[in-house]
Amino acid sequence: MVTAAPKISVQDLRLAFGAKEVLHGISFDIGRNEIFGVIGPAQSGKTSLLRCINRTIDFSPDATMTGTVLVDGEDVRKTRNVYGLRRKIGMVAPLPVGLPLTIYENVAFAPRCVGVSAKSELDGLVEKCLTQAALWDEVKDRLDSLGTKLSGGQQQRLTIARALSHQPEVLCLDEFSIAIDPVTTMRIEDVLKELRKDITIILVTNLVQQARRLADRAMFLWNGDIVELDRNEVIFSEQPASRKTYEYVHGIFG
Ligand SMILES: Nc1ncnc2c1ncn2[C@@H]1O[C@H](COP(=O)(O)OP(=O)(O)O)[C@@H](O)[C@H]1O
Ligand SMILES: [Mg+2]
Repeated sequence: MVTAAPKISVQDLRLAFGAKEVLHGISFDIGRNEIFGVIGPAQSGKTSLLRCINRTIDFSPDATMTGTVLVDGEDVRKTRNVYGLRRKIGMVAPLPVGLPLTIYENVAFAPRCVGVSAKSELDGLVEKCLTQAALWDEVKDRLDSLGTKLSGGQQQRLTIARALSHQPEVLCLDEFSIAIDPVTTMRIEDVLKELRKDITIILVTNLVQQARRLADRAMFLWNGDIVELDRNEVIFSEQPASRKTYEYVHGIFG
């Protein structure tokens, strides 16, 4: 739920790629330990918004971002530690991104990079993250096999375990279930409900029902503008403030 000090505060955020503006000055806050849903059809600017928050937008040289994004009150554009920011804000992409390593090393990689070397500590972290991602029981007997040999749904859970290995404070999920079966999707949704006790989750999805099941509040983004942002009970009700929201969440368009 939103408290006096939001985890993330976005103020008048504009983003353009070259001359084409794709986010048109949007403002909103995300509370601590909130599951914040971002819904909207393709090309609405959902992924671009996530990239502004963790500054992976820097990898697009033609992108121009103006306005303010505060994480814990700190302006992401002024931070001196962009790597620290990206560790703090984990990102899970639509398709699993596996490192060509064993299951164990996929999860141990980031902790090793920040200096964790004791085997007992790494073992504990690997077990914890794989358990949090609901994958431990399926892989605990074959941690030394390649992550890329897992099924698609397992690889996506491995991707989530790897994102968690950075011990993020915010986890951004960008259409995480696009390539996985409904049973695995439901298992991951259960995982997210558990995780929200510890972290803030931004759930970008074009699956309206997924946002409805999981989010506390949902923001309907359309063509780079916020159509409506409210508690789920309002957004998914028969009477959201905007007719366009009603039509989108009830499948009349989109
Ligand atoms: N790297 C890029 N260069 C140029 N245009 C981009 C780039 N990334 C996204 N866009 C454009 O920005 C708009 C929003 O895209 P995106 O953020 O991917 O939307 P969504 O995630 O909602 O599908 C689209 O018009 C898309 O073509
Ligand atoms: Mg996208």
